[in-house]
Amino acid sequence: MDFQLTDEQDMLRKMVRDFATNDVEPTAAERDEEERFDREIFHKMAELGLTGIPWPEEYGGIGADYMSYIIAVEELSRVCASTGVTLSAHVSLASWPIYKYGNEAQKKSFLKRLASGEALGAYALSEPGAGSDVVSMKTSAKEDGDHYILNGNKVWITNGGVADIYIVFAKTNLDKRHKGISAFIVEKGTSGFTFGKKEKKLGIRSSPTTELIFENCRIPKANMLGDEGEGFKIAMMTLDGGRNGIAAQALGIAQGAFEAATAYAKEREQFGKPLASNQGISFKLADMATEIEAARLLTYQAAWLESQGLPYGKASAMSKLFAGDAAMRITVEAVQVFGGYGYTKDYPVERYMRDAKITQIYEGTNEIQRLVIGKMVTK
Ligand code: CAA
Ligand code: FAD
Repeated sequence: MDFQLTDEQDMLRKMVRDFATNDVEPTAAERDEEERFDREIFHKMAELGLTGIPWPEEYGGIGADYMSYIIAVEELSRVCASTGVTLSAHVSLASWPIYKYGNEAQKKSFLKRLASGEALGAYALSEPGAGSDVVSMKTSAKEDGDHYILNGNKVWITNGGVADIYIVFAKTNLDKRHKGISAFIVEKGTSGFTFGKKEKKLGIRSSPTTELIFENCRIPKANMLGDEGEGFKIAMMTLDGGRNGIAAQALGIAQGAFEAATAYAKEREQFGKPLASNQGISFKLADMATEIEAARLLTYQAAWLESQGLPYGKASAMSKLFAGDAAMRITVEAVQVFGGYGYTKDYPVERYMRDAKITQIYEGTNEIQRLVIGKMVTK
């Protein structure tokens, strides 16, 4: 068992940390306040190769491993969770299903543009009446000659509106349940595809979350991903990996909050001594550090399993569950360490706390992760 990162993974972490410190962190609070997505940051990620970390060079990627991608999401989220999820949705949710299920023409066209960062990706599964219960989705795709005609609404879509390529799930057969769902690649600008409400959120406010509207939207048959009826399986397998991206996001948020709390506890004096010299505060920091290490081990293990081609669905659900819950506990405690100052926007810990909450909700709530893990450990 080897707990050491490779030289390549170490170098990538250093590169992403420099980029995050110099180009992402300085505007994180301002972008959060203004609910502003910054495309320039995505362009810079593309220049560094981050938009295509795990994909082969022939498809526009840099041919590194999943662990490197996970490290990148962790490092970005350490300073800005919105930027972390922009990359996670782009790589895990939009690019992965094309890499795994796309035909050669789809990989050469769509995956290449995503991997190089020429295009930004999004994944559209959720609907107003179908969040946890995916199968109850209403969006339909009717066959019409060489096309499918999409009708329906998707909600809560990360990168919605700013993304160029969308993986959209719709029912090709309304009478069948799981086997009636198919997956499509839909480009922004396609006639009949528009954007609705942009959500105003508690956290990850510089990551746009937007409704997608399909009104007689004609999609060429060539844009179907996988076979007809294979959509539910594609959606679930995509989430199997995607959930570890959210674990990495949670891990980064927790790490950022822990570092801020530790620095503050060493510097701030009350009763004539630093806060950290009180056992009550150092115990909080000790618990945070321990939970972060446990979350990191689970997250890296799931990435390692995926890199090895071994089953990783259960590991990924566990990492997301544990890291998300840990990030929530840790960020609440970080605010506590800062006292009243932590409750203000003068320090980043209130943002970390608001951002942490989403990691318990999206890519399957943590109740759904327990359901997935429960099924696997009892079958
Ligand atoms: N891989 C392959 N196949 C799978 C699978 C997986 N991970 N999970 C289920 N299946 C198969 C099952 O084997 C079963 O196949 P058979 O019919 O051949 O037996 C079939 O799919 C149906 O499975 P279930 O009976 O388990 O399906 P279900 O309707 O009970 O739903 C669920 C299962 C896990 C609750 C699922 O609906 C789910 O994951 N819900 C949560 C949705 C979610 O995570 N949404 C995230 C949206 S994206 C997002 O949020 C993005 C972001 O934040 C940035
Ligand atoms: P519901 O399914 O209505 O659940 C409500 C509550 O009931 C939750 O606590 C849930 O855990 C619980 N619950 C439901 N069923 C059960 C059960 N069987 N057992 C126990 N408890 C249960 N979706 C996308 O497709 N693409 C995206 O890019 C995307 N990005 C998102 C970004 C943000 C900021 C947000 C808020 C959401 C995003 N989502 C996205 C949607 C997200 O995946 C869903 O919100 C999530 O899956 C939960 O669905 P719901 O909101 O409909 O809650």
